[in-house]
This record gives sequence, structure tokens and C-alpha cells, in this order.
Amino acid sequence: MRPYDIILKKRNGGKLSKEEIEYMIMGYVNGEIPDYQMAALLMAIYFKHMDDSERAILTEIMAHSGDVIDLSPIKGKKVDKHSTGGVGDKTTLVVAPLVASLGIPVAKMSGRALGHTGGTIDKLESIPGFKTSLSLKKFFENVNKYGIAIAGQTANLAPADKKIYALRDATATVDEISLIAASIMSKKLAGGADAFVLDVKVGSGAFMKTLEDAKTLAQAMVGIAKAHSKEAVAVLTNMDEPLGIFVGNSLEVLEAINTLKGNGEQKFVELCITLASWMCYLAGLGDIDKCKNMVEDSLYSGKALEKFKDLVVAQGGNPEVVDNPENILPISNQIIHFKSNKDGYISKIDTEKVGIACNYLGAGRTKKEDKIDHSVGFKILKKLGDRVNKDEPIVEMYVNEKSNIEYALKLLNEAYQISDDIPKNTQ
Ligand code: URA
Repeated sequence: MRPYDIILKKRNGGKLSKEEIEYMIMGYVNGEIPDYQMAALLMAIYFKHMDDSERAILTEIMAHSGDVIDLSPIKGKKVDKHSTGGVGDKTTLVVAPLVASLGIPVAKMSGRALGHTGGTIDKLESIPGFKTSLSLKKFFENVNKYGIAIAGQTANLAPADKKIYALRDATATVDEISLIAASIMSKKLAGGADAFVLDVKVGSGAFMKTLEDAKTLAQAMVGIAKAHSKEAVAVLTNMDEPLGIFVGNSLEVLEAINTLKGNGEQKFVELCITLASWMCYLAGLGDIDKCKNMVEDSLYSGKALEKFKDLVVAQGGNPEVVDNPENILPISNQIIHFKSNKDGYISKIDTEKVGIACNYLGAGRTKKEDKIDHSVGFKILKKLGDRVNKDEPIVEMYVNEKSNIEYALKLLNEAYQISDDIPKNTQ
């Protein structure tokens, strides 16, 4: 077998065999196939795509390129959730304690910020003392003792994805449905859960910008789960504006805690309830209406908040963060405003640009080794359809001395469109 022939076959629209996919992926992981040949194959897949069976094989090979976690030491049916990535997406911080408070074991491996999107692990690390790097032994102990653990992915979980993702990022081959589906599902399968709730984001802040593409991605991921005898439910959710009120690490933890105290923004609360209800449904707690009632009860009774506190204690964080988040979380006190330059209504938000602007304040990374600043971010004061007057603040920016404020303001200015008339379809 030669890499050249496999690239040529896909370039001409051919279907790759299991042996060919395995040869390329494992050869790349082992350093035998160079970046330029793998990049050429990725670009061929980008233009010619993969069918269901090629995609299932690609996922399986990537999932088995490193450790596959055996969650059997944890009692009960393990249900995981995954978001395809958004801006202000702190749902895991609310949904994980919600479902854990109902007795479903949460053994969650989460990621760091990627491109314009944030990452759960970076957010949790804003809590002083909170450890996200756990040994597998400690991870299992915590799930069995507290019912919940959220850890960073072990170095050897789907290493093929790690290496290929970095190459995709550098070769404009990220947003291809088979490649995204295989990337996400290989990590999910390696993570060892029995069932998955997939939160497929669609809109200006998502990798999938159209409903049609998001549906195809959702079907592809559910198809992969089924091909591996796992259950999965996909929920398509809107990402045409930042989720909730805050964007940025500490600020999102603050919002999650407020939400667990029953003071969340309505659309964000609805999303958390929907995702948690489907997780409970897959765990076998009853029909979807019964699950929704249980989830709402846990949220509004404070049970889920208690579970969040357990999570913080179990992973070494300062539990006072729950009662006193504003004082415990590092949140910048340097605030400046992005203001409207005219009277009107917010008619469109390029949410990806809002995410990138937040990274320019220091909330994300441009290089893998970059250190992020947990204290910076945005409070979104105006969302789609809201009325604004000239010079009225649209976004409150929490900045530090290293923030590139000028560029962040330029991006926000490009991201927000203000119309004279009330826009249609923004609610
Ligand atoms: N998230 C992932 O983990 N992989 C992708 O390809 C896109 C989003």
C-alpha cells in the first residue's frame, strides 16, 4: 500500500477500505506518514466526503488509536453529553450536576477551548484550587463517591484525533462533516459511556452555519453511535447569538452558579433542562416528560447546586465559590463598554467574531502553549431583537492590561448589525 494511491483514490471520489483508512491513520500517528500526505488526504476528504461506512471505520480507528476507557468499575448506565462547540456555552457546568443529582453517574472527560469556542476544562480551572487532571483511579473513586467527576482528557485518549485536529486547524479542513463527526465520536467512544446526548450547534457561532449541515452532522454522529451499538440523541440548538449572558471563563462559572441557584437566563435554562432531560431519558429514568419534571425539581430545589459543590470539593476547589462566587472567582474589575453607534434594533450577531474578540482579551489561546486569563470576558447586555439607543452599551468588556482592546472592539463592531426596524425571526 502507498499513501499516494490512497490519496489519489479519494481525490477521484473513491471509497476507501478499512485497510486503507487504518494504514493512513495509524501511519500518521506513528510518524511514518508525513504531514503533507495526511493534509492532502484530509483535503481530498473535504471535497469528496466519506460515506456512512467509511465514517464509522474512521471513527473506530481513531477511537482505538489510544486508550479506550473501561467505565465498568462505575455502577449504573453512563450517559455522556457533547456540544459541537459554541460561544458562552457553559451547559456542562449546569447539566452535569443536574443529572448527577438524580443519581446518574457522570464520568465526564472534557476539552479545552478550541478556535473561537470555549472549553469546560478551562472554565473549571477558574475556580481556585480546582484540579482537572485526575488519575483514572481518582476519577473512578470520585464518581463512585460523589456521583460526578469532570476531568481533562488523558494524553492518550484518541491521540489520532489530537494530531489530525491540529493539522486540520492549519489546513482549512475543520468544517467537513465526516471529519467533525469522527473527531467528536472517536473521543466519545474512547471515553467509554453507554449513551450520548449530542448538542449540535447551528448558526453564526457554530462550526455548522446552516440547519441543513447541522442536521447532516447530527445524523452522521447518531449513525456512528448506532454502528458501535451505543444509543444517542441529537438536539439541534441555536448559536446565532452567545449563549446566556456571559462569555469568558470565570464569568461563565459565575453564570452557571447563578443558574443552579435558579437565576439563569431563560433560553439558557431551557437548553440545560432539555439536555439534562434527554440524558435522564437515556439513563432510563422514565419518559421525557417525567424526566423534565425531575430535572426542574432538582434545579429549583437546590439539589443540583449541592451536587456542584460536591464536584468542587471532590476536585480540590474552594467550595466557598458556591456561596460567594463574585469574591472567589478571579474576575477583572477593569470594565469598558462597547457602545451602539446608532439608534435601532440588534438584527444580526456574527457570534464567531464575538468569540474571537473574547480571545483577543485573553480568554482563549492562539497557540497550544498560550496561558489564558480566566478573569476576562464579556457581559452581553443586548441580544437579538433588543432595542438600543446611540451610545448605549451593548457589551461590557472585562479586560486586563494585556488585552488587545482595540482589536476586540473592532471585531465587536463588525459582529453586531443594528437595523432601523424591528427585525423578524429573532426571538
Ligand atoms: N469539536 C471536536 O472535537 N472536533 C471537531 O472536529 C469539531 C468540534
